[in-house]
Amino acid sequence: MDKKGPKEQLTTSKDINLQYAIKGLDLLAAGEASSNIKHTLQLIGFSPAIIRKAAIAAYEAEMNIVIHGRQGFLKAVINPKRIELIAEDTGPGIHDIDLAMTEGYSTAPDYIREMGFGAGMGLPNIKNCADELTIDSSVGKGTILRIIINNY
Ligand SMILES: Nc1ncnc2c1ncn2[C@@H]1O[C@H](COP(=O)(O)OP(=O)(O)O)[C@@H](O)[C@H]1O
Ligand SMILES: [Mg+2]
Repeated sequence: MDKKGPKEQLTTSKDINLQYAIKGLDLLAAGEASSNIKHTLQLIGFSPAIIRKAAIAAYEAEMNIVIHGRQGFLKAVINPKRIELIAEDTGPGIHDIDLAMTEGYSTAPDYIREMGFGAGMGLPNIKNCADELTIDSSVGKGTILRIIINNY
């Protein structure tokens, strides 16, 4: 039994959880997950500045799964205080995270670049938008990005 009185229950806020499966190299569907997250944040009423940061970070994380990560999930855990984005994939992993974080560094193949992706600015952009960024990656196994954007 919940022992909380009605007043406390009214002020209990629950996280909103979103989760999207991301398919590698599906460039037609690419961007749908981050676009849905953005619309949800707009519906909730976050400020344009917070929405912009979260939308950029989510889009770049999603595209990295599509282009580099083969397959995975993009998740958002949203509450009034902060937006947490988790991008995890079971792709090749990142050999050198410092190098991957360098502006302009990209291993994207030519045909991806010809489509306008692979400028090597995704991870640096995520870092600029995030209050916290952790990257966990193991070669041959996959990558997990955890991005926090505080709402203040
Ligand atoms: N999820 C991932 N799995 C494997 N490698 C990745 C992943 N995300 C990024 N990388 C590596 O880091 C590099 C830099 O990423 P990023 O800054 O987003 O640039 P871009 O995606 O344009 O190549 C990529 O080219 C790739 O080598
Ligand atoms: Mg990228």
